[in-house]
Amino acid sequence: MTVSEIFETMDYGPAPESAAEALAWITDQGARFGHFIDGAFTAPGDGFESRNPATGEVLATLTQATEAEVEAAVAAARRAQGKWAALGGPGRARYLYALARLLQKHARLFAVLETLDNGKPIRESRDIDIPLAQRHFYYHAGMAQLMESELPDREALGVCGQIVPWNFPLLMLAWKIAPALAMGNTVVLKPAEWTSLTALLFADICREAGLPRGVVNIVTGDGAVGERIVGAKVDKIAFTGSTEVGRRIRAAAAGSGKALTLELGGKSPYIVFEDTDIDSAVEGLVDAIWFNQGQVCCAGSRLLVQEGIAEAFHTRLRRRMDGLRIGNPLDKCIDVGAIVDPVQLDRIRTLVDGASEGETYRAATPLPEGCYYPPTLITGLSPASPLMQEEIFGPVLTGTTFRTPAEAVEIANNTRYGLAATLWSENINVALDIAPKLAAGVVWINGTNMFDAAAGFGGVRESGFGREGGWEGLMAYTRAKGTAKALKPVAAFAGDDAEPQPVDRTAKLYIGGKQARPDGGYARRVYDKGGKLIGQAPLANRKDIRNAVEAARGAVAWSSSSAHLRAQILYYTAENLAARADDFAALVDRLTGKRGGAKEVEAAVNRLFTYAAWADKFDGQVRSVPMRGVALAMREPCGVIGALCPDEAPLLGLVSVMAPAIAMGNRVVLVASEPLPLAATEFYQVLDTSDMPGGVVNILTGRHAELAPTLAGHLDVDSVWSFSSADLSAEIERGAAGNLKRTWVNHGTARDWFGAEGAGRAFLDAATEVKTVWVPYGA
Ligand code: NAI
Repeated sequence: MTVSEIFETMDYGPAPESAAEALAWITDQGARFGHFIDGAFTAPGDGFESRNPATGEVLATLTQATEAEVEAAVAAARRAQGKWAALGGPGRARYLYALARLLQKHARLFAVLETLDNGKPIRESRDIDIPLAQRHFYYHAGMAQLMESELPDREALGVCGQIVPWNFPLLMLAWKIAPALAMGNTVVLKPAEWTSLTALLFADICREAGLPRGVVNIVTGDGAVGERIVGAKVDKIAFTGSTEVGRRIRAAAAGSGKALTLELGGKSPYIVFEDTDIDSAVEGLVDAIWFNQGQVCCAGSRLLVQEGIAEAFHTRLRRRMDGLRIGNPLDKCIDVGAIVDPVQLDRIRTLVDGASEGETYRAATPLPEGCYYPPTLITGLSPASPLMQEEIFGPVLTGTTFRTPAEAVEIANNTRYGLAATLWSENINVALDIAPKLAAGVVWINGTNMFDAAAGFGGVRESGFGREGGWEGLMAYTRAKGTAKALKPVAAFAGDDAEPQPVDRTAKLYIGGKQARPDGGYARRVYDKGGKLIGQAPLANRKDIRNAVEAARGAVAWSSSSAHLRAQILYYTAENLAARADDFAALVDRLTGKRGGAKEVEAAVNRLFTYAAWADKFDGQVRSVPMRGVALAMREPCGVIGALCPDEAPLLGLVSVMAPAIAMGNRVVLVASEPLPLAATEFYQVLDTSDMPGGVVNILTGRHAELAPTLAGHLDVDSVWSFSSADLSAEIERGAAGNLKRTWVNHGTARDWFGAEGAGRAFLDAATEVKTVWVPYGA
């Protein structure tokens, strides 16, 4: 036999990892688990069985948390929170560090338990899930240490309700708990019902670390328990799971004032350009779609290959698929393990069997009996095919081809999701040209499924909002310091609507850089304090909103214009406003019935200067990740922002909302103050003389309560802000659940538009999304 023949025929023998210690830990706990509340395990109650999907055997019995148990957990977290926050960053850092050390010490036990419970190959739980969970605690121990010096204006939110899925049970727990604790929050976490065991082992580790009781609480159960957490008196909800449930949570929490982050589904493209190193890209696919049996929210599940290499690529891919080893997840030589549960297996089968399009190839490797699904490739699909659009969440890769880079981008972005994207090219120009064009929260270049605590992770579009990891992830677990003041409604001055007005002084709407009559033809009279008519403000309707959104969509070039250009235009706007300062001051005085007009105009000019200054300084960062490469945290505009402007300061409020949004490259649809609209209709004349491209700023006037739901429900609006003195938070958040757009609403709290809280990083953060781009560097 020749050496090459030996290599060809060589096979792996079985190398099973022992389950003895993990099973002994379960037995030691009595194989029946209660919850972990206030530092102790509760007595087991009615519940359900947790099984090993690879064998079907029952591992343990878990308890379904009752309403009272969820409340007890939240109360314990509430009692613990003040002291935990008061411990200070360095004090908390010691505990997080201890947790990281203990995760490391018990790494083998965690890995085996995870594999038993979830069915993922031990190679993955051992080399990826558990080390990354440790890394998260180490990294965030550092964040706790640095909080006081680096985030002096931020404080904990309070109690966080956290709901995690079954695909990365311990890792998702770490992503949720580590930053929350670091920033001084306490938590009530619910693991997924199929995979709760490592969370309970983690609870045990919290005891071992001497974590103060109540800081971490774990309650088990199904979606009903999740709903109870969402409805409980928590300050924040962090959810990872399906888009459908995310949408329900968004709607359920609407108007509650609870902070919310959602990390949802995806259908991430895996784009292979013709100059790619094909073997690397094929190997990358093993990680992209067969990692964790494809049950990964950011799985590279949509393969897009450039036409010229498609045949060669697919041939090599099929050969590689045949080499994948499927079977006992505890075997160290296994590539593909068991599907998490027969229910999930059924879902995969139903989705795949229900489709008739495409050419299907299944890995030739024999499939073991039980909860397994073969690695599958379905090619020749049209981009709109359900298999290219629906998240399968299994080891099924679906694909098509493209001709040009532009077409690749078009197909890649043809999805309601936007979690991740992978691109392969040996050409740096192609790779770095395409990365910014992909609608995704994470982009991997010449690699895939890389994660690290220092690199933010999260999506755009219906993949959810908020980031986990990095500095941006901390924003989701903190709030600005200070006590919120209650919002006071601002009323319009009354006058005599019956009095004849021979001279028509009706302002117009401002859409696409042009004055426009309102679609409905209606207007409202605006009076000063003495009841004298100042003018008439048009009443915009849904059609006007749609026109304004269309104009804003069309002004897409603004988002890729240089920050320098945006700064210049903001400076010019400031100058032109300053040149008309006296007119505006007089108008503001009349509108508000006060004498603060001059001060307000001066503050508005200053604000424009501030954001002109920020336009080219609110930069991204480069993150040091412990892998070959770096992760760029790029600040991108959200897109089209619809905003209901404040009533407290009719000019300054509008400028304070507009300027950060456009400075960061967004296009805006502004609904001016409802009671005091005429400063806005005057302001567009300033825009007209300031070289502002048409469609970047659109200004409407009208009734906030009528226009808010249209803005919130509009599919082409990416984010809605509301500072209206009519608190419309609930309507907007509920309406936003449809396409899961971002919202930033006041929840009945006022803002001092003249002071520090009227400007700054909070606005810039809200105006941007962080896209994490992983690039090879120094490898
Ligand atoms: P799911 O979204 O129902 O479950 C995720 C977590 O949410 C679990 O802890 C569950 O108990 C909880 N939950 C369920 N309903 C809830 C509710 N109404 N309120 C609060 N919490 C609730 O996901 P499921 O049913 O396990 O999987 C269904 C599909 O979702 C999968 O086939 C996959 O497509 C997708 N999925 C996506 C994940 C991701 O990481 N993006 C993770 C898990 C599933």
